[in-house]
Amino acid sequence: MASEINVGQMRVLVTGASGLIGKAIEHVVYHEGGKRDGEEWIFISSKDGDLTDLGQTKAVFEKFRPTHVIHLAAKVGGLFIHLKENLRFLRENILINDNVLQTAHETGVTKVVSCLSSCIFPDKTTYPIDETMIHDGPPHESNFGYSHAKRIIDIQNRAYFQQHGRCYTSVIPTNVFGPFDNFTAENGHVLSAVIGKTYKAKQEGTQVNVCGTGNPRRQFTYSLDLGRIIIWALREYKEVEPIIASVGVDEEITIKEAVHMIAESLDFKGKIHYDTTMSDGQMRKTASNGKLKCYLPDFTFTPVNEAVKMTCDWFVANYDIANK
Ligand SMILES: NC(=O)c1ccc[n+]([C@@H]2O[C@H](COP(=O)([O-])OP(=O)(O)OC[C@H]3O[C@@H](n4cnc5c(N)ncnc54)[C@H](OP(=O)(O)O)[C@@H]3O)[C@@H](O)[C@H]2O)c1
Repeated sequence: MASEINVGQMRVLVTGASGLIGKAIEHVVYHEGGKRDGEEWIFISSKDGDLTDLGQTKAVFEKFRPTHVIHLAAKVGGLFIHLKENLRFLRENILINDNVLQTAHETGVTKVVSCLSSCIFPDKTTYPIDETMIHDGPPHESNFGYSHAKRIIDIQNRAYFQQHGRCYTSVIPTNVFGPFDNFTAENGHVLSAVIGKTYKAKQEGTQVNVCGTGNPRRQFTYSLDLGRIIIWALREYKEVEPIIASVGVDEEITIKEAVHMIAESLDFKGKIHYDTTMSDGQMRKTASNGKLKCYLPDFTFTPVNEAVKMTCDWFVANYDIANK
C-alpha cells in the first residue's frame, strides 16, 4: 500500500512535542538544519489542548491548520505504572489516536506519521520480529492496554488508506532514551530511570537499586537518531505499513550492560544491587531494522555507549530542569 505525498509547502504539527522524542525532533529541525525552506514546524503539548477531548483536538487543528502531522502524543509510562493502570492507558490512548487521526482526515492533512512501540509485538513469537508480525498474537500482559491502543493505530492507518486513500503511517521505535527523558525512578523507562538513580546514589553515597535481574535484552535507540528517522519518514516514506526505527539486532545489549555504561559515564564507583524480587518485564523483544536499512543503507546510529554518555552529560548539565 502506498499513496502520493505532496511535499512542498509543509506546515508540520508535532503532537506530544514536550516529550523525549518531540524534543529530539525539535533539536534536529532547529539545530541540525532539519528545517527546509517553505516549511513551518509547530510543536505542541497537552498545554495546547487535551487530545483525549475531540472538541479540543478540533480546536488545535483549526488553530494551526497543519498539512502534515507527526503524532507523538500518548499516555506513556514505565513498566510498573503500566502494570497498575492498563485500562487507563488503553482508553486514553485510543481516544487520543482516534481524535488526532480523524481530525487530520477531516481537515485534509495529507500525511501523518504516528509512533507505535516495540512493546506492541506479540509476547510469544520468533526473533527477530519484523513489521509483518505485529498482530500475530497477544502482546505482553504487563502493558496490554497501551499495546493494543498502539496496535489499533496501524489498523486505523490501513483503513484510512482503504477508504480515503490517506497516507497515514507509523514508525516503531524500540527503547528510546536521550535528553529530556523522564529520569524518575517511578515512571522513567529503564535506562533513564537508572541514570537518575545512579546520579542520586553518587550524591548520597548509597547503592543503586536496579529493578529485576538486569538480564533482559534491549535495543536502546538514541532519541536524536530516531528524530532524524521520523523526519525522513514524514518526507520520504510512502508506505502505510509501519517501519521499525531502531538500532539493529547486533546492537542489542542487556540491561546490566547499559547500567555499567551509566556507572562509567557518571563515574559511579558504589554498589549496584539487582532486585530480583521485581519483575523483569519481557526478556527480549528483538526487532529487525532490515526494512529501514533497505531504505536508508547509509544511516549511522550513534553507538550506544556514546549516546549513554551524552545523555548522562545532558542530565548532569541540566539537572535543574530535568524530569527526575
Ligand atoms: N520513549 C520511548 O522509549 C518510546 C518507545 C517507543 C515508542 N514511543 C512513543 O513515542 C511517542 C513519544 O514518546 P515520548 O517518550 O517522547 O513521550 P513522553 O516523553 O511521555 O511525552 C508524551 C507527550 O504526549 C503529550 N500528551 C500526553 N497526554 C496528552 C493529552 N491527553 N493531550 C495532548 N498531549 C498529551 C505530553 O504532553 P505534556 O508534556 O504536556 O504532558 C508529551 O508531550 C509516544 O507515542 C510513545 O508511545 C516512545
